[in-house]
Amino acid sequence: MADNKFLKNDESIDRLYELRKLITKYKHEYFVLNQPTISDAKYDSLFNELIALEEKFPDFFKEDLPTQLVGAMPQEAFHQVKHKIPMLSLLNAFDEKDMQNFDRKLREKLDINLVEYAAEIKLDGLAISLLYERGSLIQAATRGDGHNGEDVTKNARMIRNIPQKLNGTGVPEILEIRGEVIMERKKFKELNNQQKLKNEKKFSNPRNAAAGSLRQLDPTITANRPLSFLSYGLGYYSNDLSFAKHTEIMKKIEIWGLPVSPDMKVVFGLQACVDYYYEIGRRRSTLPYDIDGVVFKVNLIEQQNVMGFVSRAPRWAIAYKYPPEKKSSKVLSIDIQVGRTGALTPVARLQPVFVGGVMVSNATLHNEDEIRRKDIRVGDTVVIRRAGDVIPEIVSVITNKRPVNSQPFIMPKECPVCKSAVDKSKEESISRCTGGLFCPSQCIQSILHFASRRAMDIEGLGNKLVEQLFRKGSIRNVADLYTLTQEQLAELDRMGDKSAVNLITSLQKSKTTELHRFLYALGIREVGESTARTLSTYFGTLEKLMSARVEELLEVPDVGPVVANNIRAFFDELHNREIINRLQYYGVNWPGKIIIGQARPLNGKVFVLTGSLTSMSRDEANDKLAASGARVSNSVSKKTDYVVVGDTPGSKAEKAEKLGVKIIDEAELLGLLNQ
Ligand code: IVH
Repeated sequence: MADNKFLKNDESIDRLYELRKLITKYKHEYFVLNQPTISDAKYDSLFNELIALEEKFPDFFKEDLPTQLVGAMPQEAFHQVKHKIPMLSLLNAFDEKDMQNFDRKLREKLDINLVEYAAEIKLDGLAISLLYERGSLIQAATRGDGHNGEDVTKNARMIRNIPQKLNGTGVPEILEIRGEVIMERKKFKELNNQQKLKNEKKFSNPRNAAAGSLRQLDPTITANRPLSFLSYGLGYYSNDLSFAKHTEIMKKIEIWGLPVSPDMKVVFGLQACVDYYYEIGRRRSTLPYDIDGVVFKVNLIEQQNVMGFVSRAPRWAIAYKYPPEKKSSKVLSIDIQVGRTGALTPVARLQPVFVGGVMVSNATLHNEDEIRRKDIRVGDTVVIRRAGDVIPEIVSVITNKRPVNSQPFIMPKECPVCKSAVDKSKEESISRCTGGLFCPSQCIQSILHFASRRAMDIEGLGNKLVEQLFRKGSIRNVADLYTLTQEQLAELDRMGDKSAVNLITSLQKSKTTELHRFLYALGIREVGESTARTLSTYFGTLEKLMSARVEELLEVPDVGPVVANNIRAFFDELHNREIINRLQYYGVNWPGKIIIGQARPLNGKVFVLTGSLTSMSRDEANDKLAASGARVSNSVSKKTDYVVVGDTPGSKAEKAEKLGVKIIDEAELLGLLNQ
C-alpha cells in the first residue's frame, strides 16, 4: 500500500479522487475488456490505499463507490430481501435421452420442426441478482430460497467486474441482472495457499470459496477475495423493452457494461446441442473456472412465453450436466440413521476420499432394496460418485476385491435408537421406526427440520447443538426451542456467551415468519415447500387450513387424497395442536393474508396466461388466482373462462379468439382479482 500518512489533507483528498478513477478504470480493463494493464498485486495495493483514505475522510465517502464500506464495521447479519421476480432453477438432463425428450416436448408444444437455442456454459458458482435503479447499483441479493435472498450489496460492490453504474442507452429505470459469482480455479489455488500460510482453513473447491467469500459480514474480507461475476440473464425490468431473443438480451447486458457468460452460441436442433455439449466437455479442463454442465435456452422470447414454467423452473431451458467424477474407496461400516418420519436410512462410512471437489467419508445407501440390489457389504471396495451439491453415492462394488468372509447387509428389526419395532410396508421399500415421538432420533430430526433454512431459518441451531439440548432434556419438541434461556445455552459444550446470545437472537428473529414457511416447518408428511406455499395462499390463515375437511383440501390445486389425509390426520392429533398453540403463545407469527374462504370472487373459473405481465410475475399471478378460487391451466380449450394476454403473447391468444374464449388484459385481470 502506498504510504499516505505523510500527505497533507488536501493532497490526500486529491489522491482519493485519483484512486477512485484509477480503480474504476482498472476494473473495466480487467473484466470487461479482458486486458489488465497492471498486476493483481498492484491493484490490491491501490484498492487498500483507497479504503484507508476513505476511512480517514468519511465525508468523502459515498454509497456507490467501489470500496463501499459502512465505517469499515462488519454487519451483524444479512438482511432478507424479496426478489421482484423469483430466482428460478433449471431442469436437468443427464443423458441424450433426457435431451431428446426436452427437444421433442418443445417442438410439439410450439408446433415447429427445429428449435433455435442459445447454448451457454453452466457456471458452478453462486447465483446473485443485481438491482440497478436509474443505472446505479442499489442492491445485490443471493438466491436464498428463490423468493427471498440475503442482502449482499456491500459485498457485491467489492467485486471488481460488477459496475456501480451502467453504460449505454436504454437502461430501464429499474433493472435486475442475474448471474453467477465465481472464483477462477487459478485464483482459488492462490487463495488456498494464502489461507495455508495464515494457518486458516482451506476451501474445498472454488464454489465453496466463492460462497464463503461473498457471504462475509465484513465486506473488507470480500474485497480481498478474487471473485468475479458473469451474468446469464435478466430478472425484473421496468421499461417496455422488447427483446425478440435471449441472445439480444445478453448483447444488451454487455453493452450496459456487465460481463456476460462467454462461450454462448446459437444452435439449431437437438444434434447441434449434443455437439455443443461434447465440444465444451472437451474444453472443460482448460476453462478458467469450474462448470458443471451446459445450458440450452429457447432463444425466442415469444416461444419462452408459450412454454411457461413448471414449479421452480422454466420449461424453455435445461441444464445438460456432465457426469459426476468417480473414485474408489472402502466401506468401513454401515450405520443406520433414523429420519424425522422414522424412515431408516443405511449410511456407508467410507475411507475418506477426495471426489467431485470435496472430501467424502459418508454415502447414503437409500434403503434396504438398494443395498441388496448393489450387494454392498462392510469391507467392500466401492466406486463412489459425487456431483455438485448432490449427496455422494455408491455406484457399484468391485467384487473381485471383496474380502472372503464378508456378510450381506441385513436391516435391523428394531430401531437402533429407541428399540421400537421396525415396520416395512408392502407398498414402500422404506423401513420405518414405529416409535414416533418416543424415538429421540425422530424428535431431533424434526426439530432440525423445523429450524432449517427454508423452514423457520433459525441460524446457528445445528445438529450437535440440538442433540445436546435434547439429551439434557432442555428440549423435547419444537415449541420448547422458544423456552431456551441464554444461561441454558451457555452451559453447553463448545458454546460461549457470544454464541448463546446469537442463538437467542436468531430464535427471536425466527418468530416473525411466513405462513408457508411455518406449514413446511411443521413437517406434515408429503407437505413440501411447494405444497405449503399453495396451502398458505389458498387458505390464507392457519385456522382455515386446520379446520378444512378432506373434501375441501382436495379442492386445492395439486393436493391429492394422500396429502389431504396426511394434513387432516396431522391437525387431528391433539399433541400437534398443542405444539402449534404453544408456538403461537411464544410469539411465532406471520402477516395475515387474504382470507379466501370468505371471498372467492373467481371460484371455479379457469384462466390461461400468455405473454409476460408487468405488475407481477407468473408465479405471483398463479398464486393470486389460486387465492381467489380460480384454476390456472396451461392450454386453451372450450372450458377456459379467461385468457389473460400480457406482453408478447404466444399462440394461446389466437386459439382463444378461434374458440370464442374471453380475452382480457392485465388491467382487467387486476380488476377481477380486486373484486
Ligand atoms: S439460467 C430462468 N444460465 O444454475 C433460468 N443459470 O441450476 C435461470 N447457472 O440458479 C437460470 N449457469 O445459478 C442460467 N448459463 C446459465 C447458468 C445458470 C449457471 C446456475 C444459476 C441457477 C442454477 C440452476
